[in-house]
Formats: sequence, structure tokens, C-alpha cells
Amino acid sequence: MAVFNKNSTAEEVTAGLDLAGRTALVTGATSGIGLETARVLALRGAHVLVAGRTLDKARAACAAIPGRATPLACELEDFDGVAECAARVNQLGVPLDMLICNAGIMAPPTLQLVRGLEKQFVANHLGHFLLVNRLLDAVRAAPAGRIVMVSSSAHKWAPPGGIAFNNLTGDKGYEPRAFYGQSKLANALVARELARRLRGRPATANAVHPGLIITNIIRYIPRWQQLLAPMVGPLLRSRIKTTPQGAATTCYVAAHPDVAAASGRYSADCAVATPAKVMEDDALAARLWTESERLVRSWL
Ligand SMILES: NC(=O)c1ccc[n+]([C@@H]2O[C@H](COP(=O)([O-])OP(=O)(O)OC[C@H]3O[C@@H](n4cnc5c(N)ncnc54)[C@H](OP(=O)(O)O)[C@@H]3O)[C@@H](O)[C@H]2O)c1
Repeated sequence: MAVFNKNSTAEEVTAGLDLAGRTALVTGATSGIGLETARVLALRGAHVLVAGRTLDKARAACAAIPGRATPLACELEDFDGVAECAARVNQLGVPLDMLICNAGIMAPPTLQLVRGLEKQFVANHLGHFLLVNRLLDAVRAAPAGRIVMVSSSAHKWAPPGGIAFNNLTGDKGYEPRAFYGQSKLANALVARELARRLRGRPATANAVHPGLIITNIIRYIPRWQQLLAPMVGPLLRSRIKTTPQGAATTCYVAAHPDVAAASGRYSADCAVATPAKVMEDDALAARLWTESERLVRSWL
């Protein structure tokens, strides 16, 4: 059994793996952790479907990826676009060995609405929920398909009770970090409910926390804090990871044979981690699933 830790990189956790013949879809693969995840899976031989907000962005990312990479447009706030992206994947007619829901935004300072709902809930959670549902048959068609939801330790910032079902519009108050936490908790609850639904089948679903990495995710924090980040980062070296380290847990959970049977887990630093209790609330996971189905019913 290989042992990796918070310092391991995506290349290290996949060293020696031959992913030839496997197909992986990575959302938000045009930047940061997603781009590194896509790069390393392709380096190991996988055919990577590189999903970006636009086809141009996805094409540019593919140019930086060695091996077989196919660009896909997938703007998660646009449910028609998500459905179209899934249709394109299904048209390829190949099983999906790895479905990595990585794209995300963090804490816009003011309330923004998409389809009348708070933006992070839509982009981080609902868009991925729809994508996963439309690609579930392709994952089930793989010999041992793995779904990885990129969550965050910030799930602990979620409001009391976890998901504020009575405030998905933000009209009862908006706190940027709490809504980010809620969306990241939602990612993990989806993995948990998926794992329950996939029980008895070879497919798995897990959630990961990549660590703290200075990427474009900080785009919404004040400009002066962004400028300070590269200086503060080295001072907090024990806490801040590099992007190759940030992609390691995702790649490990998505591809390493040691965790092939793991499902319903929350991992960080390439190991099982302890989440907030609310992430283990099966009733909450089931309720979120039902409510999310209701919200995207027309596109399912
Ligand atoms: N960095 C950290 O410290 C950290 C910690 C914990 C969890 N995470 C999670 O890790 C994931 C990757 O973050 P990162 O740090 O790599 O950030 P990043 O560099 O900003 O990458 C985010 C990716 O998601 C894409 N994206 C954002 N909104 C989207 C939308 N509506 N539709 C489609 N794609 C969208 C971005 O595309 P554009 O660039 O075109 O907008 C980009 O490709 C996120 O889910 C984040 O919550 C990050």
C-alpha cells in the first residue's frame, strides 16, 4: 500500500500508473488544480475531456496538456450548456472512468443571482449535480468508474444545519463565506448520496479537499489581499500547497488502485479525513438530492 501525504504531488501519486484506454472528464480544467489534474492524468495515458467555461478556454488548456485531450464547453451556470456538454460526451460512446467535478468559484463579495438562486449554489453545486446525473450511465458503463467531487475544508463554513433550503436565493441574508461553505458541503453531500445509490455496483463516488493553494480562486478577495498572497504564502509554507500538491488528492482518489473500492469517503492530503458532522448526515444528503432534482428537473 503506497503512502502519500500533504507534500505529495499529482505526478508522484500517479507515478507508474498506466491510464491508457481510460477516459477522464475534468471540469474547471482550464486553470489551477483542474488544469494540473487534467495534465497529469493525460501524462499517465488517459484521454482527458477538458471542460472549460468556453470552448476557446478549453482549447487553450488542451494545448498545455501532453497526450490526448479533447476540449469541451461547459459553463456550469448555463444548464442548457451543461446538458449539451453531457450530450457530447455521451455521443463519444465511451465509458467514463473518471468524472472529476472540480470547477468552482469562491465567495463573491455581493449577492449574485443565477436563475433566481445564489450563484455559488448554482455554479459549484447545481451545475455539477446536473452534469453528474446526465453522465451517470457513462460512469456506470466503465468497469470501475470513479466520481470525484472537489469539495473543501470550507464546508465547515456552511450555515447552521448545513444547507439553508429556505435561503437558496440569499434574500434572507448573504454571507459570502457561508454560501461558499454551503456549496462545498453540497458537493460532498452529493458524493455521499451517490455512493449510497451506487452501493453494490463497481462505480464509486468520493469527495476531496485539495488543501490551500493560491490559484485564481482568490479572484473575489480584495485586490490588496490578492497582492499580498504570494508574499504571505511562503510565510505559511506548512499550510499553503503548490498547485501540483493541490491536485494530488484528486488524482489519487480518481486513479490510484489502492483506493479503487473506496466510496463515500472524504479525503485530504491523500488520506481519509474527518469532515464536519453535517457532511455525514444521510438525511441531509437525501434531501439535497431531492431538492436539487426539483431545481434542475427540466434539464435532467
Ligand atoms: N485553491 C484552494 O485553496 C482550494 C481549497 C479548497 C477547495 N478548492 C476547490 O478546488 C476547485 C478548483 O479551484 P482552483 O483553486 O483550481 O481555482 P481556479 O484556478 O479559479 O480554477 C477554477 C476553475 O473553475 C472554472 N469555473 C469557475 N466557474 C465556473 C462555471 N460557472 N462554469 C464552469 N467552470 C467554472 C474556472 O474557469 P474560469 O477561470 O474560466 O473562470 C477555472 O477553470 C474549486 O472547486 C475550489 O472550490 C480550492
